[in-house]
Amino acid sequence: MKKPDRKAWLQGGAASCSNPPDPPPGPAWRLVLLGAPGVGKGTQAELLCERLGACHLSTGDILRSASCQGVRNRSPALQDALLSMRQGALVSDETMLELVGERGRCLRCCGGFVLDGFPRTVAQAEALDGLLTREGVGLDAVFDYELPTEEIVARLSGRRVCPGCKAVYHLAHQPPQKAGICDACGNRLIRREDDKPETILTRMRAYEKNTRPLLEWYGRRGLLVTVPAHGTPDEIYARAWTCGRSAQAGRTPAAGKPDRGSAAGDEALAPPARLS
Ligand code: AP5
Repeated sequence: MKKPDRKAWLQGGAASCSNPPDPPPGPAWRLVLLGAPGVGKGTQAELLCERLGACHLSTGDILRSASCQGVRNRSPALQDALLSMRQGALVSDETMLELVGERGRCLRCCGGFVLDGFPRTVAQAEALDGLLTREGVGLDAVFDYELPTEEIVARLSGRRVCPGCKAVYHLAHQPPQKAGICDACGNRLIRREDDKPETILTRMRAYEKNTRPLLEWYGRRGLLVTVPAHGTPDEIYARAWTCGRSAQAGRTPAAGKPDRGSAAGDEALAPPARLS
């Protein structure tokens, strides 16, 4: 499947994607990914989008794209947001809701979406509910990835990213073909500013305090799927659907989401037939 360039999401405003996704053969998937910083949400989002034809909507990527623009192009709110990000703190709900709110059309995109990094607070989850209602779409599932802290820190400390195309690598687990260079676009890879040990600690605390309460919030709505995040990205991808099917047993499938032909044949939360 083609990879959308996500211009509408990354730039907001009037920007539109030069290669928007094609409508999928079945209904589009709309997923939210939760989990501590560095657990592998971005990596899973890429796999899900590549295989489901959905778009990777990462709020961290919006902020990192904005940080590449000149300082003069930034509003005071965005300037504050980038400072919070560098320090590992959450950006204010007000700023995040403005950024996501002005990208509402990405939520109704025909290819569907995988939201990564949003919502991160109960206030953001409530606002997302309202936005989805306004756009006339609903969530299919919320995948929560879980891993012990030591393993998360090992993932973060080996992470290298491409400042150009935002591809993510790991020195040991997912190295680029040529050391230090992005396979996709040839840019020099960098370490994220917020991957310093002291900033990682601040991010972990922010996650525990502000984001963990969302597990109960989505659990109550019958959308939460807990996914153990050990193993290779492909193993985690497959496990997410298995956990999803178990979580969904006994639950009513989302409206308009008929079975998509899983091997089991009778559960709605299964990868599309073309993947199984
Ligand atoms: P954001 O960009 O969303 O960062 P995060 O949630 O902290 O998550 P990360 O991107 O660090 O990790 P990840 O879980 O995506 O892991 P990855 O796949 O890269 O947010 C950054 C900041 O922006 C926030 O701190 C905040 O300031 C601000 N912000 C954003 N959204 C906000 C919001 N809604 N409200 C308020 N503030 C907001 O993987 C990590 C590494 O592990 C990689 O090197 C990868 O290659 C490797 N890896 C992945 N999977 C595996 C595997 N299975 N085995 C081995 N290695 C693996």
